[in-house]
Formats: sequence, C-alpha cells, structure tokens
Amino acid sequence: MNAPLVKIETRGRVGLLTLDRPKVLNALSNEVIDELAAAMQAFDADDAIGAMVLTGSEKAFAAGADIAAMKGWTFQDVYTQDFLGHNWEALKRIRKPVIAAVAGYALGGGCELAMLCDFIIAAENARFGQPEIKLGVIPGYGGTQRLPRAVGKAKAMDLVLTGRMMDAAEAERSGLVSRVVPVERVLDEAIEAATIIASMSLPSVLMAKECVSRAYESGLNEGLLFERRNFHALFATEDQKEGMSAFTEKRKPDFKHR
Ligand code: CAA
Repeated sequence: MNAPLVKIETRGRVGLLTLDRPKVLNALSNEVIDELAAAMQAFDADDAIGAMVLTGSEKAFAAGADIAAMKGWTFQDVYTQDFLGHNWEALKRIRKPVIAAVAGYALGGGCELAMLCDFIIAAENARFGQPEIKLGVIPGYGGTQRLPRAVGKAKAMDLVLTGRMMDAAEAERSGLVSRVVPVERVLDEAIEAATIIASMSLPSVLMAKECVSRAYESGLNEGLLFERRNFHALFATEDQKEGMSAFTEKRKPDFKHR
C-alpha cells in the first residue's frame, strides 16, 4: 500500500488535514484529491467535528497540479480521466467550514484549492499565483473564476496573464486572504478560528456558509432571498432558543447543534 498523501488528525472538534507530498511541494494529483475528498467527507459526516483546517508545509501549501505527471498527456487523456475533476467537485460540496492555513507557495491548483476553502489565513511567507500561462496552459480549477471574484478583474488579469506571484501582504490588501500572521502562528491561528466556529450551533454555521457562498455564486436578489429564508429557518432550532436565552440571561450558550 502507498503511503498516505494527506495526514488526517483531529484537534478537539476540528478536523485537520495536512497535504503530505514534501518532495514535490505538495503537487496535486488525482490520488491527493481523492484522499482529501474522502477525508473531508468523513469529517463532514462526523458529529464530533464542527469545522476543518487544510494546510501544507512551511515551504508549500501546494505548488500546483503535478507537472511531471501531466507533461505527456493529450487532450483525450485529461478529458477522459477528468484530471482532478471528479473529486474536486466533491470538495466543493463539503458543508462544514474549511479554513486554508497557507504557508509558502500556493500556486496554480494550490491557489485554486486554497480559494475553494471558505477562507484563507496566510503566513507572512505565503506566495499566491496562477502561473499556468508559463506552462502553455491556463488555470483549470477555478483560478479564472474565483480569483476575479476575490481580488477584482485588474489584479486577477495581472496574475493570470503574467503568471507572477503575489506575497501575503498584497493578498491581504486585495481581499484574497482574511488574516496574515507569522509563519510559526499560521496553523494555530487557523485551528483557533476553526475551534471558535466549531463551538457555534452547527445548523447556523452550515446555513451561514451556504448563504455567504450564495453571495459569491449568484445574483443579489436570489442571494438575499436565500439568506432571508435560512434566517427564518433557524428559528426552528433549539440552539436559536438557547443562544438568545443565554444572551438575555447573561450566560454562555450551551449549544446542542440541533
Ligand atoms: N508539479 C510537480 N512537481 C513539482 C511542482 C509541480 N507543480 N512544483 C514543484 N515540483 C517539484 C520540483 O520539480 C522539484 O522536484 P525535484 O527536486 O525532483 O527537482 C521539487 O518539487 C522542488 O521544487 P523546486 O526545486 O522547483 O523548488 P524551488 O524552491 O526552486 O521553487 C517553485 C519552488 C517556485 C514553487 C517551483 O517549484 C515552481 O515554479 N513550481 C511549479 C509551479 C507551477 O507552475 N504550478 C502550476 C502547475 S499547473 C496547474 O496547477 C494547473 C491547474 O490549474 C490545476
């Protein structure tokens, strides 16, 4: 049996996934994405888990799709095997929040994987980019779609057309990442954020994620209606009663995640 490419651990109610292909800077293959999807689906189904953190190493979150594997492939090869495709869609369907803790390189498919997460916490040494143009291709897993939504057209065009990298400060300025912290803090910072999320009522966490994702993926009126209906729906939960009672009684809520 081959060694796992993704390390799977837990920290309290947080599922921690670590890409583990150090020799190739965590380059992404079908096998990596399959393992990641299986692990995330298991956490998604596990009542003991409330949120997840996805990380890599200090040198690389992931340096992109595996170029050595791809270099000889034809259109028929990538299309027929749906390279990275099938389980990439499975990652998108994960319902619990996933935070990307990014240190080092997040390039090509690595940047796209980070953007697929719900938000990114970056280390000061993080470098983001879509360098596919330098390989004679273009981003294939959301780079041309999620990057402009995150950083605007001008910067997305700049990055996608020149293939240059941006550092953590530029990524934070342009809205790609939510926080920048020293490299030795990045994993703890992400686990702490995930722990806070995992302490909230699970139904409201799931709905909040769904609603913010709608904002990103749909028109304003459709998103507003979706948000309103989900807000109303949460009044059917015990946790709404508990959360609001706890506030008025000046105590901490004891959420039961139902
Ligand atoms: N695929 C396969 N192997 C990779 C890789 C990748 N994406 N990125 C790095 N590696 C390998 C290198 O070949 C090298 O292996 P060897 O030791 O056997 O030579 C090892 O990882 C270490 O890399 P470097 O020696 O290059 O390390 P560096 O510190 O000098 O440079 C880097 C780091 C700038 C990230 C450089 O490795 C690099 O430019 N990598 C490629 C980045 C890239 O083009 N990514 C896009 C891929 S295409 C894609 O992702 C399409 C998509 O949309 C899904």
